[in-house]
Amino acid sequence: MRADELLVWAEERLKSSPALDHWQKGRELIEAEDLLMFVLDRDEIDPDDEVAPAQVRRFERLVERRFTGEPVPYIKGWAEFRGLRITARPGAFVPRDSSEFLAEQAVRRLRGRRDPVHVDLATGVGPVALAVANEVPGATVFGTDLSARAVALARANARRLGLPVRFIEGDLFAPVPASVAGRVDVITLHPPYVGRREVRLLPEEVRRFEPVESLTDRSPQGLGLIERAAGEAGDWLRRGGWLLVEVSPDRSRAVAALFRRAGFGEVRSTRGGLGVTRVVTGRKMRR
Ligand SMILES: C[S@@+](CC[C@H](N)C(=O)[O-])C[C@H]1O[C@@H](n2cnc3c(N)ncnc32)[C@H](O)[C@@H]1O
Repeated sequence: MRADELLVWAEERLKSSPALDHWQKGRELIEAEDLLMFVLDRDEIDPDDEVAPAQVRRFERLVERRFTGEPVPYIKGWAEFRGLRITARPGAFVPRDSSEFLAEQAVRRLRGRRDPVHVDLATGVGPVALAVANEVPGATVFGTDLSARAVALARANARRLGLPVRFIEGDLFAPVPASVAGRVDVITLHPPYVGRREVRLLPEEVRRFEPVESLTDRSPQGLGLIERAAGEAGDWLRRGGWLLVEVSPDRSRAVAALFRRAGFGEVRSTRGGLGVTRVVTGRKMRR
């Protein structure tokens, strides 16, 4: 069968899935191409390519898995994040393209500093921390997460990629060594920010497949973890250091208000390229 015929079928099949959140125009075709490249073990596809029957059957099986809502990175076993191949498995949050903007904001603030220190809270399988370690050579990078499963996967990612990130299990700042208190240049956080009653409204592909503790902190508005992080960050940041938090656009005002209440200056909310999330940034002004 020809590649273009397979892609037409797969795109229509994915468009008809009630489990998928069709948030981006053309997303189904992008995912179909992604899965076909995975099956063919190639980086690009020619529409005229002939696909062997065994590969057609495998591709059809993977498209059916995606139809049920299973995230593409769980199917492939990895997600691409700022050029890194990050292992993603059930039981841990899937790295999102939108978080590349959070990593970029951190890298911009860390590059050129002497002995830069970065802490990535709620790190999941580690995409933001790993991207920073990759793009800011010499940086001291910590990643913390409450989930033992996520931390195990993050450590495996760091080992495979040869990147020097210390991933530690624990609640927010609790596992960060006291020796870096007052010396951190940038803290990043992509938290579980869905309100506890809103979880049931999430698309099936998220609600059914990703761990609930990666989606909500069970506070009514989903701001509980962010409020705690903003309250504690001042003890860890050096003067002039930054707190960067990724949230949905509808929460960015409330998060900016939390930052100001916690004493941060230069508070801004910036829209990432994909437009699905914002990064709220604030600076520690006093000692
Ligand atoms: C939305 S996911 C983000 C993961 C990662 N930062 C990323 O962008 O792929 C939120 C993460 O917060 C973690 N988490 C939830 N509560 C936490 C807490 N109190 N302390 C540390 N991590 C927590 C979850 O286990 C989950 O991995």
